[in-house]
Amino acid sequence: MKVFIATKNHNKLKELERILVPMGFEVLSENNLENPLPEVEETGTSYEENALLKAHSGLKVTGLITVADDSGLSVDFLDGAPGLYSAHYSGMGASYASNNEKLLCALKGVPKEKRTATFVSAIACVFPDGREFTVRGECKGYVAEECHGDGGFGYDPLFICSAGCYAEMTPEEKDKVSHRGNALRIFKEELKKYI
Ligand code: IMP
Repeated sequence: MKVFIATKNHNKLKELERILVPMGFEVLSENNLENPLPEVEETGTSYEENALLKAHSGLKVTGLITVADDSGLSVDFLDGAPGLYSAHYSGMGASYASNNEKLLCALKGVPKEKRTATFVSAIACVFPDGREFTVRGECKGYVAEECHGDGGFGYDPLFICSAGCYAEMTPEEKDKVSHRGNALRIFKEELKKYI
């Protein structure tokens, strides 16, 4: 079955492909389009709403069953920040490095037991006939006091879960425990009800 993945984030695309292809999906992305995907304003008040906004934008362009992810890191000590604003935590034009630096500053001096955090991924799936659903996956852990490893993207170098630091895992190890991996496993089961 063909699914279109509506994302402009190459790292997310790789993760989504890596998990969806072995599940038997034929994955199409912006790389298969003649024109770039339109930018989507993330005006939702939840990960699910933002994922739906992105998925509907992809469906409008392609007419295909479309899947989109909205994700972020919610840090307990920071009352859930950066949360929905994870991508632009250190301002518009933020880089992964500047976001990580801002997070380390915000948690300076905070002891390990208070650095708990949850990575969240909401995956939306929208169908040409108007049906839609969302699922959510999470991974609990804490924010390290310095960056580790050189794999992954985003906050991976700072996020430690029970299986280790995201940035020090192989892609397969990360998929097994990550918020996105967990969301996609639920997604696979939910999708069966729609096809
Ligand atoms: P958005 O879903 O496009 O709003 O962006 C989510 C942001 O959360 C990304 O730009 C990353 O900074 C961060 N993020 C989401 N998933 C991951 C992940 O698996 N590892 C590290 N950072 C992530």
